[in-house]
Amino acid sequence: MTGRLKVVQWTTGKTGSAAVRGTVGHPVLDLVGCYAYSADKVGRDVGELCGIAPLGITATGDIDALLALEPDCVSYMPYRPNFDHLVRILESGVNVVTTMYMLSGTGYGEEATRRVREAALRGGASLYSSGIYPGHAPMVALAASAMCTRIDRISVLESLDISGYANEQMFRAQGFDLEPDDPRAAQLVEGSCGSFKDQIGVMARALGIALDEIRFTAEFAIANQTTDFGFMTVQKGRIAGFKGVIAGVAAGRPVIECRFVWKIGSDMTPDWPVTRGYVIEIEGDPNVRLKIESPGGHLDGAVTTAMPCVNAIPAVCAAPPGIVNQADLPFVRGAHLIR
Ligand SMILES: NC(=O)c1ccc[n+]([C@@H]2O[C@H](COP(=O)([O-])OP(=O)(O)OC[C@H]3O[C@@H](n4cnc5c(N)ncnc54)[C@H](OP(=O)(O)O)[C@@H]3O)[C@@H](O)[C@H]2O)c1
Repeated sequence: MTGRLKVVQWTTGKTGSAAVRGTVGHPVLDLVGCYAYSADKVGRDVGELCGIAPLGITATGDIDALLALEPDCVSYMPYRPNFDHLVRILESGVNVVTTMYMLSGTGYGEEATRRVREAALRGGASLYSSGIYPGHAPMVALAASAMCTRIDRISVLESLDISGYANEQMFRAQGFDLEPDDPRAAQLVEGSCGSFKDQIGVMARALGIALDEIRFTAEFAIANQTTDFGFMTVQKGRIAGFKGVIAGVAAGRPVIECRFVWKIGSDMTPDWPVTRGYVIEIEGDPNVRLKIESPGGHLDGAVTTAMPCVNAIPAVCAAPPGIVNQADLPFVRGAHLIR
């Protein structure tokens, strides 16, 4: 077992709360502090914010105080990244694991990448981005690829009814509840899939193939009636589902694909079936099919998003400085979790 590592959690939204619950009681991690974005969370006990017993740690907006705790790692999970904050964290020598879309480091443009990389190198710290998808599900696909003698196409599908993940801000930013002919709809869904282009690039690098291009296609499903999901309402005639493919193309054919079916509810046309989880397929020799699901139940997206970051903390703290990705780290596992 490695030495114990001090962790500061950055925000306690859906994913951040799951990260706190996964960090507390983790055999090699100690939660020592927590940043709050929302003013009304400042001063409140972090356990209470995350639905567990009080921890005696209060959330704060004071970044200097958090860095003075000399954490080994920040678990950075806000809705949108603040690059000034990230630069301060990294240049002070603190490693970062994050669910923000920066898998290969390029997710937010060249200027953001340059700032983050330079801060990390100045501070001797590493930044690692993961999650479930993009993130760990494609990593499982990469692990499965090692069984093959030939790969013609490797694909990952996320196929979910998202009505159980109450995040109106995120879903509206993807284009849900827009009129299907609203020109923003296609732009928003493609924009929100930028991270999958990043993911395809990371997979291509890991698989040792040069891609000619990355293509994006998506279809919409339209709500048959107005439905209130509790956290947001989707109006009849508006977008209630997306089905799409982000394809890495080599020699004119798709060879690496990130696919998705995202539906809110099921009363829509067309009503694509959902597999409630992740399906990994390799066409080649041999053909391989894997499914990641929670038998008989619901795969908690907040947990499966947070834990690939939390469980990567020891490897990220040991990694060379800079932006590191799945091809740079040892395979992230649930190390130390069997007790
Ligand atoms: N790769 C994956 O598999 C995957 C899956 C899901 C989500 N994600 C990403 O993970 C991150 C967290 O997702 P989430 O669903 O946990 O998000 P969330 O619950 O919507 O927000 C997380 C926290 O961000 C803070 N926040 C709220 N509005 C903000 C704003 N406008 N700008 C900056 N911060 C804001 C709040 O912090 P306080 O708690 O301090 O108030 C909030 O609790 C996002 O970047 C999301 O895109 C990745």
